Amino acid sequence: MSNLSHFVNVNVAALATDASYFAKLPATNIVEPAISLLAYHDDFYRVMGRDAKARKVWDLPWAAFHEAGLYNKRDNSLYITSNFQSLEDNINITVVSLDSDDYPVRSTQFPLLAEANGGTNYYPPGAKRNQTPPMQLYCDEGDFERPSQLLAVDPNTNKSTPVLTNFLGRNFSSINDVRQHPVTGDLWFTDADYGYFQHFRPEPSQPKQVYRFEPDTGVIQVVADGFVQPNGLEFSPDLKTLYVSDTGSQQFKTVATGPSSIYAFDVVGDGKRLANRRTFAWADKGFPDGVHCDTEGNVWASCGDGVHIWDKQGKLLGKIFVGEMSNNLAFAPGKVFVFSNARLWVVEGIKAQGREVCQDFGVGCN
Ligand SMILES: *[C@@H]1O[C@H](CO)[C@@H](O)[C@H](O)[C@H]1NC(C)=O
Ligand SMILES: *[C@@H]1O[C@H](CO)[C@@H](O)[C@H](O)[C@H]1NC(C)=O
Ligand SMILES: *[C@@H]1O[C@H](CO)[C@@H](O)[C@H](O)[C@H]1NC(C)=O
Repeated sequence: MSNLSHFVNVNVAALATDASYFAKLPATNIVEPAISLLAYHDDFYRVMGRDAKARKVWDLPWAAFHEAGLYNKRDNSLYITSNFQSLEDNINITVVSLDSDDYPVRSTQFPLLAEANGGTNYYPPGAKRNQTPPMQLYCDEGDFERPSQLLAVDPNTNKSTPVLTNFLGRNFSSINDVRQHPVTGDLWFTDADYGYFQHFRPEPSQPKQVYRFEPDTGVIQVVADGFVQPNGLEFSPDLKTLYVSDTGSQQFKTVATGPSSIYAFDVVGDGKRLANRRTFAWADKGFPDGVHCDTEGNVWASCGDGVHIWDKQGKLLGKIFVGEMSNNLAFAPGKVFVFSNARLWVVEGIKAQGREVCQDFGVGCN
């Protein structure tokens, strides 16, 4: 239980005329990664709650905490995908138990899952919606032998079922992240080139696009293109907006002039199409990878120094600063976990609640 942290104010008016202001703060001027709650705006206290406490949970010898972060009710655990290491040691699922506040971990694998990345809790067609989703859905980036796919997994029986393995006969590059629309049940996902950049997929031959798939009918459509590397995606709590991040500033190497941005779209046409693309936010550090909304519509994204939190107008309210790259985060009741590869962090006692928490955890909030 080390690194108990409190809030640190960032004076954005001072920062406006002093580019070195941020690096000089005691909270950020650190040698080893460490967590603090940086308030760029007063609303950050309201969103987090003044009792929020942050600490490091795990520091492991491999990149155990990378993406996904899917809840399974039966074992009261979060399932987090590790980062790619080698084709001989494929991506693990790190299972973090929420039974005690030392959050014990173990690693597992699922059948048919080559290289897992993002994911979402999943109601297959016909599943009852008044309970925790019965399945997990992983974006499998594929490898040199196996195509990229959306794979449904029941972690309690260790059974896997492919849900989508191609676009009308064409392979995907490496499916990155996915959300299920809570009303239509459609799967919205991004396809990017990270399997190729991480040297486990062939050279891509597809444009970088966002797709919508109907698991009950098989209908699939492209809903947006024009991305350098589309990555995280998330619905606003009123389901009127879809946020999609573009991490095009990270390819084989950093491309500083590439996008590190989140775009917003209106969800139109009975929840089936997108319109009115606009820039929502640009990250000052790294690139916004995994994106999640809270129930008030604030947008949380994992970036180069931790999680950045914007209000729905795109104003930066604050950061859960960890001093190193974070790729995703996961809300749980009263807390949020931050993934930074070898390390797992938690902020407990928070007021904000994830958009999907009530559904996923079956905690029956209104
Ligand atoms: C999988 O987990 C084991 C520990 O359980 C670890 O040694 C190994 O490096 C992990 N591999 C990946 C790719 O995360
Ligand atoms: C689940 O299946 C995977 C892959 O076949 C296997 O490696 C793993 O040991 C299985 N887990 C359990 C709990 O049976
Ligand atoms: C799709 O991927 C599979 C598995 O990697 C491969 O066998 C097949 O040739 C690919 N299809 C196309 C059209 O590239």
